[in-house]
Amino acid sequence: MSVKVLRLLALLWGTFQFAAAGSYEGYKLYEIATETIAQRNALNALAQEDADKYNFLSLSRLHTQNARVLVAPAHDESFQAELRNQEIPFELKNTNFGRTIQTEVLQNRMLRQAKPYNGTGRLGTERYYSHDEINAYLDDLATRYPTRVFVRIVGKTYEGRILKTITITNGDGVTGKNVVFMDGAFHACEWISPATVVYAIGELVENFEAHAELLQAYDWVILPVMNADGYEYTQSASAFRLWRKTRQPLTLNGVTCYGTDPNRNFDFHWMGKGASSNPCSDIYAGPSAFSEPEAVVVRDIMHSLRDRGILYLTVHSYGSALFYPWGWGPELPDTWEDLHEVAMVGADAIRDYSGSEYEVGSSTALYGEAAGASDDYAFSEGFTLSYTMELPHGGDSGFDPPPSDIDRLVKETWAGIRAMGKKVTTKYPTPKQTLS
Ligand code: ARG
Ligand code: ZN
Repeated sequence: MSVKVLRLLALLWGTFQFAAAGSYEGYKLYEIATETIAQRNALNALAQEDADKYNFLSLSRLHTQNARVLVAPAHDESFQAELRNQEIPFELKNTNFGRTIQTEVLQNRMLRQAKPYNGTGRLGTERYYSHDEINAYLDDLATRYPTRVFVRIVGKTYEGRILKTITITNGDGVTGKNVVFMDGAFHACEWISPATVVYAIGELVENFEAHAELLQAYDWVILPVMNADGYEYTQSASAFRLWRKTRQPLTLNGVTCYGTDPNRNFDFHWMGKGASSNPCSDIYAGPSAFSEPEAVVVRDIMHSLRDRGILYLTVHSYGSALFYPWGWGPELPDTWEDLHEVAMVGADAIRDYSGSEYEVGSSTALYGEAAGASDDYAFSEGFTLSYTMELPHGGDSGFDPPPSDIDRLVKETWAGIRAMGKKVTTKYPTPKQTLS
């Protein structure tokens, strides 16, 4: 066989594998509006029993919140039959999720080629950025605002990518202020998360005058792309667009699977309810707590902020909700009313800004148990307030908004984050002796 033919075969094989890896061709997206608690319970049961057949992109415990489910062609018939059996109404939202995803991934890539980030100036909201571009932006801010901004290398991902935080201050040189700690991109496919966090960084640094009161008595520490390996993987091909976990492989009983759910990897009720011990599962908690270097990075930042860390905010999508502890079980912390109050300030601000409705409640009450998550860990390590913010979905995919919707979403989310930030500066003031 000639080299040419071999090359062609290799190419075809590559394409075939690509398709086999899951391009979501022909996958359907359903929206389900349950009308009764009984229907919602049946839906929850279905989501749990058939987790590997039906991909629930969003599922609240509240029967008033619509659920969204992605179904492969092979399971479509059984899915519809199940719902009909239970008399649960559903609506077909997208007949070919794969094509939508592919269009959006290509669109984002074209926008990037048309306007690559040249390493100076604020990142816009017209597309999603790569981990490298976001890191370059942090460095650019450190150069342009050397007295107000500090960029630190805080560790490396499994694949060796550099993780950086940005500490944002008002430049008065006072150390030991209370701190807001925020992170993004725990889950690789939730692109709107780092986009939101990057927008918040831009506001706090480049639109400083408008938000001076946020930084008067507080510093902000921000890790925009926690799961950088997974994030880059989702950007590499539309077949990998829905990847959620890290990229560290694990072999169990001769089977190798990739990645751990970083939001099940924290050492607080690790491997409890809502976490899996199967390395192939999307909610695999890892071979041990803190097996993932990215989770270790977040843990160490939290420890370094002991006594000063007031508000922890981890940005995810999709669900339009603000979750507070606990997420490992149905108990509520003694201070749940404070947690609820500050979250309501955020939810109200978002509603006032754009009309978007957020649910507010404990993770377990709204979402169901998911043990080993970073919000519970932060709270158990002394953060006064700790939240998972689940952004709304958007676009035809009913998943990440297309690039044209980024601007609207990051701005309304910032309205909420800003309001919560303002609330904590008065509710939990930095001690006077620190500031003088
Ligand atoms: N969607 C998030 C996840 O699955 C929710 C986490 C909420 N927090 C919790 N402790 N359960 O990771
Ligand atoms: Zn998430």
